[in-house]
Amino acid sequence: MKEKIFIKGGKRLVGSIPISGAKNSCLTLMPVALLSENSLVLHNVPFLSDVDTMKTLLESLGCSVVYGGSGKCISLKMGNEVSFLADYEIVKKMRASILVLGPLLARFGQAIVALPGGCAIGARPVNLHLMGLEALGARFTIENGYVKGKVSGSLKGCKIIFPFVSVGATANTIMAAVLAKGTTELINVAKEPEIIDLCQCLKSMGCNIEGAGENRIVIEGIKNLEKTTHKVVMDRIELGTYIIAGAISNGDIKLTGGNIALLENFIEKLNEVGVEVSQFEDHLRVRRINSSSINCTNIYTEPFPGFPTDLQAQMMALLSIADGVSNIEEQIFENRFMHVPELVRMGANIEIEGRKAKISGVDQLRGAPVKATDLRASVSLVLAGLVAEGDTVIDKIHHIDRGYEAIIQKLSSCGAMIERL
Ligand code: UD1
Repeated sequence: MKEKIFIKGGKRLVGSIPISGAKNSCLTLMPVALLSENSLVLHNVPFLSDVDTMKTLLESLGCSVVYGGSGKCISLKMGNEVSFLADYEIVKKMRASILVLGPLLARFGQAIVALPGGCAIGARPVNLHLMGLEALGARFTIENGYVKGKVSGSLKGCKIIFPFVSVGATANTIMAAVLAKGTTELINVAKEPEIIDLCQCLKSMGCNIEGAGENRIVIEGIKNLEKTTHKVVMDRIELGTYIIAGAISNGDIKLTGGNIALLENFIEKLNEVGVEVSQFEDHLRVRRINSSSINCTNIYTEPFPGFPTDLQAQMMALLSIADGVSNIEEQIFENRFMHVPELVRMGANIEIEGRKAKISGVDQLRGAPVKATDLRASVSLVLAGLVAEGDTVIDKIHHIDRGYEAIIQKLSSCGAMIERL
């Protein structure tokens, strides 16, 4: 179905928005079910098309995946009839599909997974995933667009130094190492809260993991993982997006379940541009310090705890109405400015040179028909539409449904004039 989002801009957002469980965490936790014959129950699961895609992929591998509790809970259990093939038709929809590779190899000694290929934000290779798994003893060939992996005997723990930080490669290697024989030491790993969430879930299944959230993780392999129930961590990227929604609309919103601690660098930048984010026991409150202006700033994206690449597009929407000139450098992905031409169509003044963008603030954005290109780029257009004069119509919104649960309901409950056409 060709759906669009319509926004009439200019409404000040006032109200309360609940923050969902993290998409990226959930997509990393679901493949954990492949590691065990016992069940894994996840709570606080966001209702998103990417979660559905992971469900379809796991089912195709022989895992039963059942929703309960109005979509907030999933129960996963690997069956006895296992397929080792992650088909291209599923993998091409979502890069996180590569996260089944480590678990399949660790538990069953074989896997055939389609290469995810490039995506809208860059080449996104999987060499670091393969490097980690190869060091543990897997052997790979690449044939006809598929990675074919085999393990003779079982994986063996070892020391792995990643040449640079990758969230996905860290997760894949951790999942494989929990079933490897002996000790695995991982250096230069991702410290993202989603990696900590993965390790907490694995620990509750009996795994021995130390150092989650630090530069070095040490894992002592075990033979079997127990059953567990785990609550998915809050979605810090969704939280950051709604913080910007409050700021850009000059609103006053509460974000329930929001936790500043997972977004420190981002919050510092918001304070710098004139947005106050206060932490209360069970929510955050967002308001501008000076209602008539946003200050300019300079940002570069980095692995956690630096400024997240997944909030770069949203921050650019906010800076496009700031006083003065801001600069953003995208250091994680080589092609993550797809939102720029669309923001420019809405009246923003942004120039790109390589991985750098110069944003000269304008007094007013204007509504326009625009096209969503990837998940975070699309939501930056929603944010721009909230403050633009007139009507914005966003095409290709399936990108938004991949990662923002009930976005129309959440924003309209705070007074935004937004609907799905
Ligand atoms: C995860 C997140 C994504 C986020 C990204 C960076 C999930 C499902 N997705 O993606 O939302 O934007 O972290 O915070 O959690 N790279 C290689 N070789 C590899 C792997 C990565 O060169 O084998 C490069 C990538 O091209 C990129 C950089 O490393 O330039 C970081 O990517 P990575 O951290 O792996 O991102 P993902 O895990 O794919």
